[in-house]
Amino acid sequence: MIAVEQQRDQWASKIGLILAMAGNAVGLGNFVRFPTQVAQNGGGAFMVPYFIALFFLGIPVMWIEWVAGRYGGKYGHGTLGPTYYLMARESVKPRSALWWGVISGMLAFSLTVLLNSYYLHLIGWSAAYSWFSLTGAYFGTNTGDFFTHYLSNYGEIFLFWGITVILLAIAVGQGVSKGIERWVKVMMPLLYIFAILMVGYIFVLGSPIDPNWSTIDGFRFIWSPNWSYLSAHLWSVMLAATGQIFFTLSLGMGIIQNYASYLGPKDDVALSGLATVSLNEFAEVVLGGSIAIPLATAYAPKIVPPDVLAKGKSAALAWIGHKFGLGFSYTSLPNAFVSMGDAGRIFGFLWFILLWFAGFTSAIAMYNYLVALLEEDLNIKRKVGTWVVFVIYLIMGLPVIYISGYMDQLDSWVSFQLTLLALFDILVAVYLFKPDNFWRELHEGAWMTVPGWYKPIILYIAPILLALPLIGTFKSFVSGKIGIAPWTAIIVMFIIGAIESYYAIKRKYGEELEKNEVIVKV
Ligand code: ALA
Repeated sequence: MIAVEQQRDQWASKIGLILAMAGNAVGLGNFVRFPTQVAQNGGGAFMVPYFIALFFLGIPVMWIEWVAGRYGGKYGHGTLGPTYYLMARESVKPRSALWWGVISGMLAFSLTVLLNSYYLHLIGWSAAYSWFSLTGAYFGTNTGDFFTHYLSNYGEIFLFWGITVILLAIAVGQGVSKGIERWVKVMMPLLYIFAILMVGYIFVLGSPIDPNWSTIDGFRFIWSPNWSYLSAHLWSVMLAATGQIFFTLSLGMGIIQNYASYLGPKDDVALSGLATVSLNEFAEVVLGGSIAIPLATAYAPKIVPPDVLAKGKSAALAWIGHKFGLGFSYTSLPNAFVSMGDAGRIFGFLWFILLWFAGFTSAIAMYNYLVALLEEDLNIKRKVGTWVVFVIYLIMGLPVIYISGYMDQLDSWVSFQLTLLALFDILVAVYLFKPDNFWRELHEGAWMTVPGWYKPIILYIAPILLALPLIGTFKSFVSGKIGIAPWTAIIVMFIIGAIESYYAIKRKYGEELEKNEVIVKV
C-alpha cells in the first residue's frame, strides 16, 4: 500500500458540488443547441428518441463518469489518462492498461481543447449581445447585417472573448473549493432565476403580433409527437438525439470525471449523479424548451420573411426549423426583442446574459480539466497553468474567427468524439474495471440504491446504443465532411494528448509498468 503523496482540493459543501456539476452540464447546449436540434429534427419527432437516449445512455454514463472520477481522485488524479489506466489494470496487465489510459486521456485532452476553442467564442458573443441589448445597439438595424458586421469587427470580438476568458482564468486559478465552487454558487441560482423569469413571460405572452401566431404554436411543435417524420428519418433523428444527450450532460468529455475526482472516497455518487441529470434536464426540457422556439413562433411575422409567411403556417414553421441554429439567436431572435420595444432591451439582456452564465459554468469545467492536467500530470503550478491554458485557447480559437465553416465542421466532429469517449467509459470503467467492482463503487457511500435492472442496461443496452451511431456516422467523416484546417487541429491535439497521457502514466507508474505488475493500490 502506497499513500497518495499530496492532499487534493475537495468540494467544500454538498450544495457547492451539486451546483458545480449542474453548471458543468447546463450550458449553451440547453438553451441554444437543444431548441436547434428539436427544430431541425421534426419537433415532436425528436423528443421520443431524446427521452430514450436519456434513460438508456444519459443516466448510465453519468453514473459511470462519477464513479470513474471519484476512483481517480483517490489516487490523486483528475485526468482520464492515469484514471483509466488504473481502472483497466483490474483486468489486464499494466502495459496493456497503459494503452487504454493513453487513448482515453488523448480523447479527453483533445476534446477539452477543441470544444472550448469555439465554445469560448460563443460565450464571448453572448457577452457582447448582452451589452448590445442593454444599449439597444441592434434596435432599428437589420439584425442579420448587424451580426455580420459584429463578426468582422475583430477588436470587439476579442474584447468580449477576453473579458470572459480572463474571468474564467481568475476563477479557475483560485482552485476548486475557493474558486469554481464560489463562482457557481452565485451564477447557477441566478441562471435558474433568469430562465424562470423568461419562461414566466413567455407563458403570458400569447399572440403579441398577430392572432394567428402564438407561443402555443411553438409548444405544439415541440410536444406533439410527429411519428411520420420520425419513421421517415429514424436514423438521423436518433443520432441527433444521442449526440444532444451527451453534449448537454457534458458526457464523453472527461469533465464530469474531473469534477467527481474532487470528492471524498466515500461521498455519494449515485444520487448526486442523478441530481445532476435532473437539474440539467429541467434546465433543458422545461426551461430551454420554453424560450427560443415559442418566442420565435409568437414573433414569426417579424422573423420569417414575408414571402415564406404568405405560403402559410407550415411553410413558416419549416423555415424556422431550417433556420434555427447558432446564428438564429444572434440574427433572428433579436427581431423579437426589437418588437417588444423598451422591454425588449431587458428581455434581450436576460436572454444573452443567461447564455453567458450557462456557457461560463460549463467552460470553467473544460478549463479546469486542462489546468488539472498541467498541475497533476506535469507539476506546473495552478496559477501558472491557468495562463498557459489561456494562451492555448487564444491560439486554438483563432481559426474559429478567421476560417469560415471551421466551427461547424469541428462541432460535428466533437459530437462524434463525445460518443466515442462514452464508449470508452463503458469499456474501461465498467468492463475492464469489472462490472462487480463498478457496481460496488457506485454504491459505496451511496444515498440511493440503483435498481438491479439498470445493470443489464449499463452492460448491454448502452454499449449497443452507443456503437450504432458511431458506425452510422463514421463514413461521413472520412468522406470529406471536414476540411483540412479542422482535421489538422484534431490530429495535432490527438498527438499532444497521447504523448501527454503516456508521459503522465509513465511518470507515476513507471515502476509497475517496468515490472508489468500492480504495485500501487490505495
Ligand atoms: N454540457 C454543456 C452544454 O450543454 C457543454 O453546453
